[in-house]
Amino acid sequence: MLYDFEARLARPTALKIADLERNGRLKHVIFSRQFNRELIDHLCGIASMIQDLAQIPEGREFLGGRLAHLRAMLYFTQPSTRTFLSFMAACQMLGLTCNEIRDPSVSSEYKGESKFDSVRMFSSYFDLIIMRTREPRLAECCAYLMNDLDDFNQRSVPVVNGGSGADEHPTQALLDVYTAQRCFEFTSERDAPRRISFEALRARNPTLKKGLPGKTYCFCGDIGRGRTIRSFVNLLSLYSGVRMIFVSPEHERLRLPEELRARLLQSGVEVQESRDLDKVIEEVDLLYMTRIQHEWDTGDDKTSLKGADLSRYWLTQKLVSRMKEHAVILHPFPRNEEIAVEIDTDPRALYFTQARNGMWIRAALIAYLFDVDGAIMRTHPKLFAERHDYNLGNI
Ligand code: CP
Repeated sequence: MLYDFEARLARPTALKIADLERNGRLKHVIFSRQFNRELIDHLCGIASMIQDLAQIPEGREFLGGRLAHLRAMLYFTQPSTRTFLSFMAACQMLGLTCNEIRDPSVSSEYKGESKFDSVRMFSSYFDLIIMRTREPRLAECCAYLMNDLDDFNQRSVPVVNGGSGADEHPTQALLDVYTAQRCFEFTSERDAPRRISFEALRARNPTLKKGLPGKTYCFCGDIGRGRTIRSFVNLLSLYSGVRMIFVSPEHERLRLPEELRARLLQSGVEVQESRDLDKVIEEVDLLYMTRIQHEWDTGDDKTSLKGADLSRYWLTQKLVSRMKEHAVILHPFPRNEEIAVEIDTDPRALYFTQARNGMWIRAALIAYLFDVDGAIMRTHPKLFAERHDYNLGNI
């Protein structure tokens, strides 16, 4: 029966993940746990190729012709800057035409239309629905709705979760892992702090290795309500020898949830909790700062957080000066006071690069969903070989 999702929402994640695939590929993107190591590496590879192609006119023309026959609906009823704009830029790069609903009061939802009827209508006009909602699990339900339509031989399109409630933000996790991968390859000058060569770093720190395994990842701020953290740690837990330090206030809703801690331990992650960033800063390879997400405060939270000293969860220049030379500072943004603007010029502060990476990896994901990733893999070496053949210089 259409719109009857309760039983499906209650299933174990593994069954849900299978339900979001078609012909051995993801059809919908709802959970970060849909990405395995192989798919992450594939998407990161495609993202880097797209990034290269976008630098040259023939590459831009090629990319822009891939999906010019398709249209995307960006249904973002919860505020967003980066996810909305980077998805739009990614669509435009591949030639998709975009439309948007950001304010439901100017759509027929205002007249009482259900969100599910609205989403079904979007699927009548568009080929891809990317959605951000305050309601947890709405994107998941919309994916099941599309599957039901498929079963009834009705028009059905992929649904991509651009952030749902406080539970998941799978494409943010992709851009975070893409950024971390690039940083810990120590090859690209664009991904500072690689302004210092790997060899020079290794000379001063002989235990330093390339790659994500064996690193210490620290998450600081609102751990309990941070959907970006929840999704990113799922991907990091796929790598071996990973240690995670969660730094948050003692508060019940802000600290590491027990269910997440248990899952990480089960995946072989070494988990540590701290109440003070100052105590752990020197051990960290990647620091992931987050703001306190007051938009999720209940009346009780407002009372219990009133007057709390949250400055122990702010990154200061003094703390940064004690960080490892090769460490990386990320933040999903928006930021409040937890990272002072003065830190932005430190070569380890990579949150603007991280945000830009969102455009490349989201373009890679869309290319994959519409099966043009193979064409990108074939064309990238060809265009770049031609450029070198014509001696057009380095790119
Ligand atoms: N990181 C992130 O999701 O940012 P926006 O809320 O601006 O999309």
